[in-house]
Amino acid sequence: DAHGLITMLFDKVDRILIDSCQKLCVISNCAVGTENIDIPYATKKRIFVTNTPGVLTETTADLAWALILSVSRRVVEGDTFLRDGKFIGWRPSLLLGVNVYGKTLGIYGMGRIGTAVSRRAKGFDMQVIYHNRRRNEEVEREIRAKYVDFPTLLRESDFLVITAPLNEESQGRFGIEEFRKMKRTAVIVNVGRGQIIKEKELAFALKEGIIWGAGFDVYEREPIVEEGLLNLKNAVLIPHLGSATEETRTKMADIAIENVILALSGNIPKNLVNPKVLGENKKS
Ligand code: GLV
Ligand code: GLV
Repeated sequence: DAHGLITMLFDKVDRILIDSCQKLCVISNCAVGTENIDIPYATKKRIFVTNTPGVLTETTADLAWALILSVSRRVVEGDTFLRDGKFIGWRPSLLLGVNVYGKTLGIYGMGRIGTAVSRRAKGFDMQVIYHNRRRNEEVEREIRAKYVDFPTLLRESDFLVITAPLNEESQGRFGIEEFRKMKRTAVIVNVGRGQIIKEKELAFALKEGIIWGAGFDVYEREPIVEEGLLNLKNAVLIPHLGSATEETRTKMADIAIENVILALSGNIPKNLVNPKVLGENKKS
């Protein structure tokens, strides 16, 4: 009997669910990603689909940097080392990492989050290159980010950060072939979607030293994490915390509620993901 639905990222809103809600007029996802929802079907049924973009951009970009720095400087490994009582004195070759300052940052998916990650690279005097479905001229002007083709992105990135959404082009885009084209000292960071990387192949690449390290917030079969990654020291693995700050999660909840209220009071919600629904509405 619900008129509005507030959903989380892993609530599957498929045809069966939509068909069982005859009165439904809005599905408000409390996330920026919306791949848990059958959008074409919702549109056909004249149901608004909304998300919570914008407010989580900077928070997720911060987390991408937390991963860049903790992988490159072995922060998690160092913490474990110390707590295990192994810190018996300063040693010149203890837990050596790789420099971040002055390196090349590669962004796969230059949208809002990719741009926010790139902006932070200025303080590290990094050169920013990116690959995206479309060129983003604004970011080229603002950050002097350079658009490159996919093979160049793989070849030249010291830190390759994935901020793309899941779509036909990004799904399974990174596998062993791609890792082999990267630098042996490269670090890959994924704050986009898990299915963009073939996790088993990544575990192999990390184990064999084909690339240097990885930082992950999202997983291919979330919440299941590839067994092979779990015992690798050169991977930092966190449980999908991209937008997880008190401030941002509160804002996301507010926006999700606001979208429902707007829709149920006869207005167009602010964060409409399926504007085509407006055309469908007119026909009725
Ligand atoms: C998080 O992954 C989101 O899509 O908000
Ligand atoms: C490190 O603490 C240094 O002084 O080099």
